[in-house]
Amino acid sequence: MTTFTNPDLVPKAKLYTGEEIPGVGMGTFGSDRFSPEQVSAAVAGAIRCGYRMFDCAACYQNEDQIGEVFKAAFDEGVVERKDLFIMSKVWNNMHDRVAESCEKSIVDLQCDYLDMYFIHWPFRNYHAPGCDGDARNPDSVPFSPEQFIETYRQVEALVEQGKVRHIGISNMTIPKMEAVLPHLKIAPSACELELHPCFQQQELFDYLVSKNIYPIGFMPLGSPQRPERDILVEDINDMQMPEMQEIAKAHGVHPALIALKWAHQRGSVPIPFSVHEAEYNSNLRCLTEDPLTAEEMAKIATLERDNRLVKGQVFLWPGANDWHDLWDEDGFIVK
Ligand SMILES: NC(=O)c1ccc[n+]([C@@H]2O[C@H](COP(=O)([O-])OP(=O)(O)OC[C@H]3O[C@@H](n4cnc5c(N)ncnc54)[C@H](OP(=O)(O)O)[C@@H]3O)[C@@H](O)[C@H]2O)c1
Repeated sequence: MTTFTNPDLVPKAKLYTGEEIPGVGMGTFGSDRFSPEQVSAAVAGAIRCGYRMFDCAACYQNEDQIGEVFKAAFDEGVVERKDLFIMSKVWNNMHDRVAESCEKSIVDLQCDYLDMYFIHWPFRNYHAPGCDGDARNPDSVPFSPEQFIETYRQVEALVEQGKVRHIGISNMTIPKMEAVLPHLKIAPSACELELHPCFQQQELFDYLVSKNIYPIGFMPLGSPQRPERDILVEDINDMQMPEMQEIAKAHGVHPALIALKWAHQRGSVPIPFSVHEAEYNSNLRCLTEDPLTAEEMAKIATLERDNRLVKGQVFLWPGANDWHDLWDEDGFIVK
């Protein structure tokens, strides 16, 4: 039995353009574990339960199945195109052909235009989706501001052509943004970054807010089903932190919902994923009821453990030390 949450009651986030977007969206990355059919069936259910924002990407390899679901929802009058906020991303091997990549996503998703188009990673270093964690591409190179701007210009052209409404960036660092933001004609509306209680990225978060770039938090639950290549024995399980369990108990809900309330009240838009109806239903509904107290928010703020889950090691270039080089941790772009 589908529970319906009225989308009007879901809190909104305001972009710098003044446009309001849903305060929570649904992720669609099957994590190499869930088939395109399982993910698209969840999207179909999610639309019917009141989700209006979907985070898609070419490299998730399921946009055509999700497109079938969008089309059916439009044809059946469940929603109109304008009711949905559909996001997609250009993958690293298409930075020199952004228009082609965008067109394919629009065709696959059967959505006429994209509400937000992200540059998924800020460089062209390619690895095949689903590759092994030890895989390296000898052609990989360090971040280049010039190349990034060249890619970004192509997305700006898509905005001018009406194919894309907002530009998004993803997996960025402060030094990389400092190098490129002054050169962009259309400022990015949002940035996707990894955010969960044990990885809060406060400095980057504050920087984004100061630049009016909305933080969209991926892996908001600590991605318990993430691909093997992103699992290390030392990783912390956010949901099992005693503080999360204690707050969850006080609210009578799963710790996942506490993580989402926290993400929202902190000022980000979380994009949790689930193929299970009861989970994705409650992930949406939880923002409409029973907020966390200031004390609970403060307690979760203490759970920072610098526990980055997506290290991105497969994008390293020859001569790089290790995955830390991707994240400019010393305040400058590592070359
Ligand atoms: N821009 C980027 O580079 C980037 C990178 C990664 C992800 N993303 C986006 O972010 C989205 C979310 O990340 P993610 O899917 O990796 O991780 P996540 O949303 O943190 O975790 C998803 C998992 O949490 C469990 N879950 C979901 N709702 C739950 C609930 N209410 N109660 C208990 N467990 C629950 C489910 O596991 P079970 O199946 O075991 O229940 C599900 O597979 C992706 O789908 C993708 O759209 C973007």
